[in-house]
Amino acid sequence: MISIRSVSKTFLSPSGELLRVLQDVSLEIPAGASVAIQGPSGSGKSTLLGLMAGLDQPTSGEVIVAGQAITGLSELALSRFRAKNLGFVFQAYHLLPHFSALQNVVIAAEIAGLAAAEAKALAALARVGLEDRAEHLPAQLSGGECQRVALARAIVARPPILLCDEPTGSLDPVNADRVFELLLELQRDLGATLVLVTHDASLASRLGLHIALERGRIVAGVA
Ligand SMILES: Nc1ncnc2c1ncn2[C@@H]1O[C@H](COP(=O)(O)OP(=O)(O)OP(=O)(O)O)[C@@H](O)[C@H]1O
Ligand SMILES: [Mg+2]
Repeated sequence: MISIRSVSKTFLSPSGELLRVLQDVSLEIPAGASVAIQGPSGSGKSTLLGLMAGLDQPTSGEVIVAGQAITGLSELALSRFRAKNLGFVFQAYHLLPHFSALQNVVIAAEIAGLAAAEAKALAALARVGLEDRAEHLPAQLSGGECQRVALARAIVARPPILLCDEPTGSLDPVNADRVFELLLELQRDLGATLVLVTHDASLASRLGLHIALERGRIVAGVA
């Protein structure tokens, strides 16, 4: 479902130094798998997830997602591809602050070209237990609730792939566990492939496959 082939990513640091953030990374993630990506801070986890989502392009190598080589697609083609195939959950929620919970999800549904976007957005909010918070702005929601809105937004178009970057990182243990349970449940319902970056070893242990990154290289895992 996700194929990363000899991917390297280098950044130029502000001081002009070449940073090798990912070095010759290859891995195959089968459809329906649940994968945990772990590793120290700065090891390249978010960079790798961003490449899977086509949010960034590799310096070399190839990224194939849902049968499509996404390296080199235009921005427009990429955004269409993402809307159809990917749900992305960011650590810091990334909700639009001036839009209600419902509108945040509706916008994602509209970008994905769904008919009856509002009804589907409401159903997605109900799915994460937030139908009674639909009109709240993000600032009027708790952290756990914001993260659940972000989940609703990620699943509204029923994507075959869910990419999550430390989706429980800013939550207390009880809420982290709730959001994680919900994520697994949604993955099962959608039959989706789940890739999750986490620092939490006990959450990671509940996923099927494990990838460990260190200084931009895979040191253990499914490659
Ligand atoms: N746009 C950029 N320009 C320069 N350096 C970058 C850029 N993006 C990331 N980096 C560097 O790449 C390295 C890997 O970053 P990345 O965000 O992938 O780490 P991470 O494993 O997700 O860490 P964390 O657990 O702290 O989130 C870091 O050292 C970071 O400073
Ligand atoms: Mg990160």
